[in-house]
Amino acid sequence: MRRYSRISGTGSYLPPRRLTNADMVGLLAERGIETSDDWIVDRTGIRARHYADDGVNASDLGLQASLKAIEAAGCQIGDIDLIIVATSTPDMVFPSTASILQRKLTEVAQAQGRPGAAGGAAFDVQAVCSGFIYALTIADAMIQTGAATRALVVGAEVFSRLLDFNDRTTCVLFGDGGGAVVLEAVEHDGSGPAVLASDIHADGRHTGILCVPGTVSGGQVLGDPLLKMDGQAVFKLAVGLLETAAKAALAKAGKTEADVDWLVPHQANLRIIQSTARKLKLDMDKVIVTVDQHGNTSAASIPLALDEGVRSGRIQPGQTAMLEGVGGGFTWGAVLLRL
Ligand code: ACO
Repeated sequence: MRRYSRISGTGSYLPPRRLTNADMVGLLAERGIETSDDWIVDRTGIRARHYADDGVNASDLGLQASLKAIEAAGCQIGDIDLIIVATSTPDMVFPSTASILQRKLTEVAQAQGRPGAAGGAAFDVQAVCSGFIYALTIADAMIQTGAATRALVVGAEVFSRLLDFNDRTTCVLFGDGGGAVVLEAVEHDGSGPAVLASDIHADGRHTGILCVPGTVSGGQVLGDPLLKMDGQAVFKLAVGLLETAAKAALAKAGKTEADVDWLVPHQANLRIIQSTARKLKLDMDKVIVTVDQHGNTSAASIPLALDEGVRSGRIQPGQTAMLEGVGGGFTWGAVLLRL
């Protein structure tokens, strides 16, 4: 018998304001910039994305996703002893979005006359679109060592706030949303539900190809606080790194591509997803795709896709899922798990 961590519940939340490609055409036309549904669908597979209203922050999207994940796990807010939020769009410079989320969860619990989540560890992880993979890896390690028992692992983003609506090559790609899982300790002989292996990496030589180079100093924004991307460089790197990470996680778990029931990839671009699936010899009917409806929600995209796969009944208990992501940094990684 060994201590593992396993996902006991998933949840997700999209803000209600939905923008189709036709809406983006209109939005950009107001600035004298041309785009089209055909171009966006053909190059990215994206048809719609959601934007949070002003005043709605990453912690708010994370809260809604977390409440659903906690309900699905059949536990209480007071049972959570670790909160990790993966985000590149935190509510504030500090405190962490995880601390703010912990407060909001505690307020919900107290309104129900129940104990809150105060006292457990809470912190953010910044690995851009790989953030959820990083956060899951850290939470799994903390549960395996006994440092935590029941973790809430969240990806939540308001990426619309970072977009340059004068740059048609990037602003059509991203959206807002939140996804969460409850990850809890479980003891078994290795045949039960568990995080089977994970593999995370970074190569800081590529910081410049995908970044938001601004910062806050002396009460002002220094540098440019809007997203910059060399799309073709990102594309080339992403495809190779996703294959490498997935194969490394499989090797660590002693498994092969044939053991993977579902690929739950970061949802950046349909062409990247198709190319990765081909390299892993997986048919597209074994891949959860949400990028068409969500756009790229950065750290939120993987838990959003996982929740969609679980709630639609496609991903079933006992099946094996490969989660994988790549993003700014450059960062990349994969987590193989049995549901
Ligand atoms: N609408 C219409 N035309 C456009 C648009 C648009 N929204 N954006 C760019 N174009 C035009 C360009 O101006 C260019 O026109 P030109 O030939 O007259 O100069 C033409 O389309 C081709 O531009 P490219 O940038 O070469 O287009 P490309 O085929 O590389 O596609 C894209 C761009 C979709 C960004 C692609 O590079 C890509 O998918 N890269 C991966 C990046 C990605 O997915 N990033 C997500 C974030 S990173 C992550 O999550 C891992």
